[in-house]
Amino acid sequence: MIKAINLSHDYNGDIALRDINLEIKRGEFICLVGESGSGKTTLLSILSTLLKPKEGQLSFNKQNYKDIKNLDEFRQKNIGFIFQFHHLINYLTLFENVKLANEECKDEEILKVFKLLNIEDLKSKFPTEISGGQRQRAAIARALINNPKVIFADEPTGNLDSKNAQIVFELLKNLSAKGTTVIVATHNKELATMANKIYEVKDGQLK
Ligand SMILES: Nc1ncnc2c1ncn2[C@@H]1O[C@H](COP(=O)(O)OP(=O)(O)O)[C@@H](O)[C@H]1O
Ligand SMILES: [Mg+2]
Repeated sequence: MIKAINLSHDYNGDIALRDINLEIKRGEFICLVGESGSGKTTLLSILSTLLKPKEGQLSFNKQNYKDIKNLDEFRQKNIGFIFQFHHLINYLTLFENVKLANEECKDEEILKVFKLLNIEDLKSKFPTEISGGQRQRAAIARALINNPKVIFADEPTGNLDSKNAQIVFELLKNLSAKGTTVIVATHNKELATMANKIYEVKDGQLK
């Protein structure tokens, strides 16, 4: 589904990624592990089309990344993002936050996703009124609302206690079991064992 050939990237000459070759199949749950500064976020950003690689090829279902005319539309249709800091809007309720991500989505559909994540009772709460784990689940709800084919998560459990971190990983694993491709960058090697495949990023290279 996603294929990367010899991807390389640098920031003003400082090499961040070197010759990354990677093939990810539909429904796989992939974890990228590695120390801080190893290149996980850079790789995730390139794979998710947020960052243009300096070198190499990238394709989605055999469509070359360079041939995608409208990247915004492509992302909207295909990709869900989850970040360490949830980026929910504090003056909107959780329901409104998710609605904002897809104005056309029917309210019932949004409620279905809230149920799936076990936060239906929280739909009228504001992000400041709930726990970190609950906020992260709301952020996942927002990522799911467009039925993305691929979910990219960058350190999604970075600010969570181990119990909530486990819950988030279990949710991601369940999504992949239902056919969503899930690609997560994490420095938590223990949680990473829940993935189908673990890649170690070290000095910008895949091990
Ligand atoms: N926007 C940027 N500008 C310059 N250097 C960057 C930028 N983002 C990351 N880097 C550098 O690229 C390398 C890889 O960083 P990153 O991909 O963020 O790693 P990780 O997510 O594993 O911590 C690091 O040396 C980092 O300092
Ligand atoms: Mg990072």
